[in-house]
Formats: sequence, C-alpha cells, structure tokens
Amino acid sequence: MKVVSLISTYILLSLVALSTAQYIRPPKRGRISIPSFGRDSSTPAAQQVHVTLAGPNRMKVSWMTMSFNSPSTVEYGVASGVYDSAATGVATSYTYFLYKSGEFHHVILGPLNDNTTYYYRCGGIGPEFSFKTPPPAGPHVPITFAVVGDLGQTEWTQSTIDHIQKMDHDVLLNAGDLSYADFYEPLWDSFGQLVQPIASKRPWMVTQGNHDVEEITFIIGPFISYNTRWPMPYNESSSTSNLYYSFEVAGVHVLMLGSYTGYSQSSPQYSWLQADLAKVNRTLTPWLVAVLHAPWYNSNTAHQGEGDAMMAAMEPLLRQAQVDIVFAGHIHAYERTTRLYLKNPDPCGIVYINIGDGGNREGLATEYINPQPVWSLFREASFGHGEFGVLNGTHAYWTWHRNEDTESVSSDTVWITSLSSSTLNCSVSSSSRIAAAAAASSKEPRDL
Ligand SMILES: *[C@@H]1O[C@H](CO)[C@@H](O)[C@H](O)[C@H]1NC(C)=O
Ligand SMILES: *[C@@H]1O[C@H](CO)[C@@H](O)[C@H](O)[C@H]1NC(C)=O
Ligand SMILES: *[C@@H]1O[C@H](CO)[C@@H](O)[C@H](O)[C@H]1NC(C)=O
Ligand SMILES: *[C@@H]1O[C@H](CO)[C@@H](O)[C@H](O)[C@H]1NC(C)=O
Ligand SMILES: *[C@@H]1O[C@H](CO)[C@@H](O)[C@H](O)[C@H]1NC(C)=O
Repeated sequence: MKVVSLISTYILLSLVALSTAQYIRPPKRGRISIPSFGRDSSTPAAQQVHVTLAGPNRMKVSWMTMSFNSPSTVEYGVASGVYDSAATGVATSYTYFLYKSGEFHHVILGPLNDNTTYYYRCGGIGPEFSFKTPPPAGPHVPITFAVVGDLGQTEWTQSTIDHIQKMDHDVLLNAGDLSYADFYEPLWDSFGQLVQPIASKRPWMVTQGNHDVEEITFIIGPFISYNTRWPMPYNESSSTSNLYYSFEVAGVHVLMLGSYTGYSQSSPQYSWLQADLAKVNRTLTPWLVAVLHAPWYNSNTAHQGEGDAMMAAMEPLLRQAQVDIVFAGHIHAYERTTRLYLKNPDPCGIVYINIGDGGNREGLATEYINPQPVWSLFREASFGHGEFGVLNGTHAYWTWHRNEDTESVSSDTVWITSLSSSTLNCSVSSSSRIAAAAAASSKEPRDL
C-alpha cells in the first residue's frame, strides 16, 4: 500500500515536473519581406539610416541613397524642423558580382551635448529623424545597453526589434552576424531598412560574425559589404581595422573584438588590444566589457571549440585587465556563466553571456551538453535579447528577455558587481599571466 502510494506520488510529481519545467518553444520562422523602398537611381531619399558613436560627443550618421547626386550632408538641431547646424562627410559604394550598391554616406556630427535629442535630415531633404545622445561620461552615470546577436531578418527578428524599441536603451551592442545576406547583397539593403526604426534613434555598435565575411577566395575580399555599410569608430580608438575597436560611454569601456581577423599574440589586433587596455582608467570607467562573435565558453553542442584559439590567445590578457563581462553570439541560444578563468570558476574571472538568439532564419541551437557544467548558470534555446543596465560604478543588472509573440518576458535577471569595486586582489603578476598563456595555448581540446 505504502509502495503503491509512493509510486503514484512519484508518477504524479513527474507529470507535474514535465508539464511545468518544459517551456514550449515556438518554431523558427521565415524571412519577412521588408516594405519596398526605392531602387530607382533617381531616388534621393535617405534609406537604411543608422547612427553610431564616433568619439567623445560625436555621432556618425550613415545612410544610403540610390541617387549618386545626393549630397553627403546632415542638417540638425535640438528642435524639430530647426536645423541650425550642418556637417558634411564622405560617400562610397561597391559592386559585388552583378550587384551595384547605391551610395553610402557617412557624416560625423559634433560636438554634441550629452543626453540630448537631436532632430536631423539627410541629403538636404526629408524625412526628419531624431536620435538621443548617450549620457555624459562619469564613473557613476547610469546607462542602459541593449544587447543582441545573430539577428537576420525573420519574424523573430522583428519581434526582437519591437521589444527593444519598448525598452528605451541608450546604446545597442550587436555581437555579429547582422543581415544573413550570405552573398545575396539586396538582403543587406533590406536589413538596413528593417533596423532603421531603432538604429536611426540610438547608436548601434557592431562587431563582425562569420556571416558578415562574404569572401570568395581569389575573387572577392572579405567584409566588403560589412565595412562599406557599417563603419565603426576604429580610427577614433587608434585601431587600423574596422574589425576591432573600442569606445567609452558613461562609466563603461567597451571592447569590440574581431573573431574573424587575426587575434594571435603576433597579430595587429592583439597589439592594439594591449595598447587599448593600457589606456583604460578604472576610476573613470569602472566597467570593462567586451563583445565578440564566437563564444569562448558555451555548453551547447553547436559550434563547440570554434572560439578556443581566440580564447587561448586573449583570455589571459582580458583576465589581467579585469574585464567584467564578455558578450558573444554565434550560438543561437542564451547562456550565462559564473565568473570564469581558464575553464574554472574564479571570483576575479569574466562573466560570459551568449546572446546569439536574435531571430535569424537558421533557427535555434537546442542540443546541450549534459550534465550542465558547474560554470553554466542559465541556458535556454529561445529567441530574445538582453539588457545591461549600469546603475553606477559598482552595480549593474543583466536581464535576458525571451520573446513571446506579443510580449518580451524577462526570464533571467541577475545583479553584477564590478571587479574594479571588488575588495579581492584581482591583479595578476605578468609572469603568471605569461605562464597561463603558455598553458592555454598548449591545451588539448576542451573537455566540457
Ligand atoms: C537625461 O535626461 C533625462 C531627461 O531629459 C533625465 O531625466 C536624466 O536624469 C538625464 N540623465 C543623465 C545621466 O543626465
Ligand atoms: C584618425 O585619428 C587621428 C587621431 O586619433 C586623427 O588625427 C585623424 O585625422 C583621423 N583620421 C581620420 C581619417 O579620421
Ligand atoms: C585616472 O583618473 C583619475 C580621475 O581623473 C586620475 O586622478 C588618475 O590620475 C588617473 N589615473 C591614471 C593612471 O592616469
Ligand atoms: C550603486 O547602486 C546600488 C544599487 O542601487 C547601491 O546599492 C550602491 O550603494 C550604489 N553604489 C554607489 C557607489 O553609489
Ligand atoms: C595583489 O596580487 C599581486 C599579484 O599576486 C601582488 O603582486 C600584489 O602585491 C597584491 N597586492 C596586495 C595589495 O596584496
């Protein structure tokens, strides 16, 4: 009798566990068709308008026109319709097999006031757009980042974009794989149109993913489209490549690293990173975060090991610099780790957040390595986006929002305290860093 009741209790509990623990994941969805826009070479109207940070108190406005006779000029001011300032920039275009792009215009505005809405129009004609500049520099200034990866252009991408639009972020960080054009260039144009409603209002900062390379050996070089359309402030951060750069905003120093360009200790990227980290002053920017595409830590079965070589080269450097968080994409799922260094939990290590679930056509990566490694604190294969809200120099929250059809559901929320405010001694001697680097580079493939 007792045994029977135990068994039936067990069955009942199992059923309850089954019915509550399993989130029913909606399927992947196809590409959406972006509302048509002028492809006629006489169309002077600005398309694919987006803004990026371009050094202290500067913003770059970028757009495309089908007409090649449209001026690279932005008129702007703090009141709608009153353009008391103007700036002129540069124009470029490219061809890719039979595809001939329109003309891309890039214009730097400034100096601008902090935390201020500017109204602007491109090429001397309407429509009017507006953007808000980020909050002022300062170690305790609050700022909110939207964080996305692997967006593409499906109904799920639209859902992600709609949810971000409601959050009123200051700056967006995109961990790579933008358009999923995959050699079909018109999809870069439709991606530019798709993101314009957010990207024309707040700085949209990108790093590259594998889908952005679009190289055809001996015929077409890498990143032609990506570099032409999404030039980032690399010169402003003393980098010589659009594929890696840094910027500072409020009390945060952000490293945008390149997973698809050289990263070994003899590479230009590595030398630039060393020099850039040497300039960071944690009194002024208590937070140090990095964004890259191929994750160094993830317990999904997809793309295992693809970030290992970059991790071996750069992890000791980032650990020595006391980087707080690394955001990555590539895996189409969400995962958050404890602070880690050399595969082990370390209170002075880095929090790794995988946010490659923006909504692209390839769908989700649903297979995980089991049991879940101790360092993996939360993992789920659903579409969504992240919010990184810095309150001051010591406290920030991280929230992952899972996309439901109509609402964005906050599904993982955690407080993160900055390493710069920690009472631990997190400094590493350079000899132990070099030893760690040597050990890491001779490491066998990771055993998860
Ligand atoms: C930015 O401006 C808004 C309103 O215009 C104000 O409430 C907020 O405190 C400002 N933020 C900073 C950091 O100055
Ligand atoms: C690049 O940056 C340097 C200083 O950081 C500046 O002098 C130079 O004019 C910049 N070049 C371009 C093309 O913006
Ligand atoms: C960092 O910035 C603080 C505040 O401005 C300043 O007092 C300090 O000298 C700076 N540190 C370095 C190494 O420049
Ligand atoms: C930062 O914000 C947190 C949360 O509101 C608060 O507990 C903490 O005292 C603040 N720290 C500073 C230095 O203002
Ligand atoms: C912190 O650790 C480093 C490296 O182990 C050591 O050189 C330094 O003396 C320590 N600092 C303090 C204040 O203990």
